[in-house]
Amino acid sequence: MAIHIFKTVDALIIKLAEDIVASAQQAIASREEFNIVLSGGSSPEASYKILASPTYTNQVDWNKINFFFGDERNAPAEDPQNNAHMVREALFHPRNISAARIFAVDTSLPPEQAAKDYTKRISEHFKGKEIVFDLILLGLGDDAHTASLFPHTTVLADTSVSIQSVFVEKHNTFRITMTAPMINQARDITFLVYGQGKAEAVHHVLEDEVNTEKYPAQLIQPVNGNLQWYVDEAAASQLRK
Ligand code: 6PG
Repeated sequence: MAIHIFKTVDALIIKLAEDIVASAQQAIASREEFNIVLSGGSSPEASYKILASPTYTNQVDWNKINFFFGDERNAPAEDPQNNAHMVREALFHPRNISAARIFAVDTSLPPEQAAKDYTKRISEHFKGKEIVFDLILLGLGDDAHTASLFPHTTVLADTSVSIQSVFVEKHNTFRITMTAPMINQARDITFLVYGQGKAEAVHHVLEDEVNTEKYPAQLIQPVNGNLQWYVDEAAASQLRK
């Protein structure tokens, strides 16, 4: 595991965009495609916008990138709360990404069905073989949740490699999320976390006793892949070591 601490948020979001492109180039060179799982929330939006800028138009073959989502809110596709909607505005539309490359959760279905449907589409994409994403981006909540793995929710104990729906009392709504085992099969997993509001959570997840019910992001432990944390100085300010 590596923790990268950036002086400014700008430096962090630019580096993330650069590293996504570098991973895409490598994956496409060796496996002809790049399967990336995007995170929702507000933190990654600026990086997605950078990827849509002219600088990156010719740096990678955008037709060889498949986009997935680590979690989704139970909100219609056109709702600003919907994670895919955010990415559509920031990246997919401006970059003219083909619909065939975008694997979004179908939130027109009831949550449990939406989860089953998404598991099935992902399995089909990987042709029934092991589901190993090239890169999974994750955010961190101030309560130490990641994706929609919230503290003290049923999905934390799920050992299947799948997508699940979960009722999140805190938000009084369903979410649809990858299980930790699905995330952990990835080649690379990168957390993007910034701001003072995240400092305590960063400390708990990285340095506190292991208590995955309380700090679900501790469940993220890649089986064979690499785990990286990109944090700014504010989010790192409560790290003791
Ligand atoms: C979501 C997420 C979630 C997010 C964190 C951090 O749908 O909200 O995917 O896990 O990454 O809550 O969110 P912010 O970046 O908005 O702080």
